[in-house]
Amino acid sequence: MGRQRVLSGVQPTGNLHLGNYLGAIRNWVEIQSQYENFFCVVDLHAITMPHNPATLADDTYIIAALYLACGIDLNYSHIFVQSHVSAHSELTWLLNCITPLNWLQDMIQYKEKAVKQGENVSVGLLDYPVLMASDILLYQADKVPVGEDQKQHLELTRDIVNRFNHLFAKPDQPVLKLPEPLIRKEGARVMSLTDGTRKMSKSDPSELSRINLLDPPDQIVYKIKRCKTDPIRGLTFDDPARPECNNLLTLYMLLSGKTKEEVAVECQDMGWGPFKSLLTETMINALKPIQEKYQTVMDDKGYLESVLRDGKHFAEAIANNTLTQAKIAMGYSIPL
Ligand code: TYM
Repeated sequence: MGRQRVLSGVQPTGNLHLGNYLGAIRNWVEIQSQYENFFCVVDLHAITMPHNPATLADDTYIIAALYLACGIDLNYSHIFVQSHVSAHSELTWLLNCITPLNWLQDMIQYKEKAVKQGENVSVGLLDYPVLMASDILLYQADKVPVGEDQKQHLELTRDIVNRFNHLFAKPDQPVLKLPEPLIRKEGARVMSLTDGTRKMSKSDPSELSRINLLDPPDQIVYKIKRCKTDPIRGLTFDDPARPECNNLLTLYMLLSGKTKEEVAVECQDMGWGPFKSLLTETMINALKPIQEKYQTVMDDKGYLESVLRDGKHFAEAIANNTLTQAKIAMGYSIPL
């Protein structure tokens, strides 16, 4: 038996922020040695909202470089670009035809994003979760490490698998594998710095709401200085009346590597001023090695291109094999 497979991805829309790192990529890095891993930059998902063609390719490279900078190790993991493997689009079409429309209309992220788009909402935005299901299913992934906001999309993926296998496979010979979400409790939902009740997001118009992995120290200082707090002295986790306090303590805990108990004791009598200084310093120190490694990777574009080329070739062989199995199951003739 080979290793179990992991697949996950990030959209190349703007910079990665601490939510993407703590909710997803940091976990990929931690578990990668136990699995065979596929990490893609999901550039087909990036066009489900209006996008800038002039920056799409560069943004895609930036995310791939950040994967390496955060510690994705090519001894265990393959990094590739979603649009380089055409099976993703093709399986999406096949799965579209067995996915009931109302399953997609019920998706929370679709509803939230569609409201912002008004009449311009695209079919692609509605179909986003089916493309995501294809990403996962093409690699017969066992585990999908994501932040909490992706839970519903993972449940939909599992529903699609069950429907596909029920319609087109023998009960003891499933064609598509049922994947499991891997959602860590701590860091699964990093909140905005300007409103502790909303998640940190790339689409928030305020730059002050998030820390990007590539923010220089002076910006981190500025953003933490300006971030929302409350008038209460002494800092505590898990008080529903203090969402900002819980979020900032959680960030400090995750970035310092300390336990929740250690942080609770250390910060229980602190005022916001000293805590903000501590958090700022911890954040700058935690991001420094990532930023340095990122620069090294970006300075050698040829290397990055070779990583993505190798990733594409490896991914493509597996993806095409699953696609063929799915087509045969659905009754298609396969060219000889
Ligand atoms: P994206 O780019 O929006 O987010 C990438 C990852 O970051 C996590 N995340 C967060 N985690 C904690 N707190 C936050 N504030 C926060 N914001 C984002 C997301 O949960 C995600 O894990 N649809 C996916 C991309 C995708 C994908 C896939 C993932 C496409 N195909 C197949 C897994 C498997 C997404 O949300 O991208």
